[in-house]
Amino acid sequence: MDSSDIEVPRLPLTATHPKWIEVALADLDAVMADHLHCERKAAQSALSMVRAYPDRPDLVSAVARLAHEETSHVVQVSQLLARRGVTPRFDLGDDYVRALRARLRGQDPGRLVDHLLVFALIEARSAERLALLGQAIQDQEVGQLYRALAAAEVRHRDTFVRLALAVGPSGEVAARLGELAAREAEILARLPIRPRIH
Ligand SMILES: [Fe+2]
Ligand SMILES: [Fe+2]
Repeated sequence: MDSSDIEVPRLPLTATHPKWIEVALADLDAVMADHLHCERKAAQSALSMVRAYPDRPDLVSAVARLAHEETSHVVQVSQLLARRGVTPRFDLGDDYVRALRARLRGQDPGRLVDHLLVFALIEARSAERLALLGQAIQDQEVGQLYRALAAAEVRHRDTFVRLALAVGPSGEVAARLGELAAREAEILARLPIRPRIH
């Protein structure tokens, strides 16, 4: 089946609760500190795929390039925090990502597909929320930064979906994406609304 015939769900499946942006704006420093760690973990997770799948050259070059971009986001968010005079705290851990990762199948190629789809879901949710911040933050320069980061995460979402579809079979991958996207929406709905990216 040609992958252009496949119905791929639009991510994220659900919109963030409207209360989230209020909570986020009320403690932007906490959100930005969490954001720093999200960008770092995105870079690390992408590179971990090189360790796990060195035999897939297309995957390796795509995720290495992506990790490079995520690292540049770490620099941008770190400089933003410094300009705001915020000393970021240590990483609080991420129960959202843990709950998603608990859904990974145990055996390849299903595990690889699930990994890539979970990364796509995290990118999609991050993109949605960074865009909300980009619209809501009053400071022009900071708003612009968040809109640019949101656009980058949308591209990353699409990269991961494309990589997963390439593992194939694409019809099954798209169906699996629908399942995991529904789980993502449930996980998010269960978590408290808090001044964090997820
Ligand atoms: Fe990023
Ligand atoms: Fe990203």
